[in-house]
Amino acid sequence: MDEENTRDLDYFLDIQPKKKIEFYEAVLEGLSLPQKTISPKFFYDERGSKIFDKICDTPEYYLTRTEIALLNEIQEELYSLVEPGSAVVEYGCGSSIKIKALLSALPEPSHYIAIDISKSHLIATAKEIASNYSNISVAAICADFMEPIDWPERASFESLKRLAFFPGSTIGNLNPSEASQLLKYVRHLVGDEGTFLIGVDMKKDAEVFNRAYNDAQGHTADFNLNLLHRMKSELDADINISEFSHKAFYNEKLGRVEMHLISDTKQVIKIDSLEFLFEKGESIHTECSYKYSIIEFSELAKKSGFSVLKNWTDKRSLFSIYLMKAI
Ligand code: AVJ
Repeated sequence: MDEENTRDLDYFLDIQPKKKIEFYEAVLEGLSLPQKTISPKFFYDERGSKIFDKICDTPEYYLTRTEIALLNEIQEELYSLVEPGSAVVEYGCGSSIKIKALLSALPEPSHYIAIDISKSHLIATAKEIASNYSNISVAAICADFMEPIDWPERASFESLKRLAFFPGSTIGNLNPSEASQLLKYVRHLVGDEGTFLIGVDMKKDAEVFNRAYNDAQGHTADFNLNLLHRMKSELDADINISEFSHKAFYNEKLGRVEMHLISDTKQVIKIDSLEFLFEKGESIHTECSYKYSIIEFSELAKKSGFSVLKNWTDKRSLFSIYLMKAI
């Protein structure tokens, strides 16, 4: 999908042009570390994004459906808590269900600005919102939101009340100090009068996590292994994908789920003239998914420039949503 297809949008900005080089460099660097590592942001090519949607439909992966139900439950409260005419900036816009629940709840939102690293998902979501909400001006920015974004100069945007929206517990992919940094970027983006609505997965029994990240249909395994498929097709890497397996577990001490790709044999991955040796059982660490109690997250918010106006959890205390304001 390209610029020609973005006519319904107010504007489309691509500040993510060197994708292939970025993946190549990240893989070479990550596989050279003592603990081999690849960032979870590389899961989301077109195939990976489709597999992620399948994960969200598995009975074990409670996060997405719990958050959507919770968003629907709090619509009336959001109506009275958020300023009329707000500009909503969404960080990562995988599915349109959540943003629709939010835009439909708010009092006359004026703008919707979507930011995502996956261009096709981004444009599809932005266009869908543009066609469903004729009173909202819609824009899309293709960018890695884990880095500070050079915001386009839009006088009208600056003068609007801004609400950032970061659903899905994507914040969990960052370690607590990176998460604090991201909250500070958001604080800067929304300004002194800004607000922030964020969905965060909660700490709970290890078994619930171990089931959620090891679904019986194997979609999470496919999602994880998709990184190796990307390396093969995009970087022309020489890999025996069948000799790697998916592993995910809750690391209770660090309060995070970890995903790894485990090498089942002693083997090498070759990329260009480089060889990366794997001992049998050695892993590539592909994801951290940090979990927060209400107290922990409220403290993180406070030291990053936000105070919690209100927080909500579902009846089983699986997932939490926070409405925060700039301090
Ligand atoms: C999209 C980062 C919230 O950590 O649960 C799902 C990604 N990884 N299954 C998560 C994911 C494995 C997901 N986040």
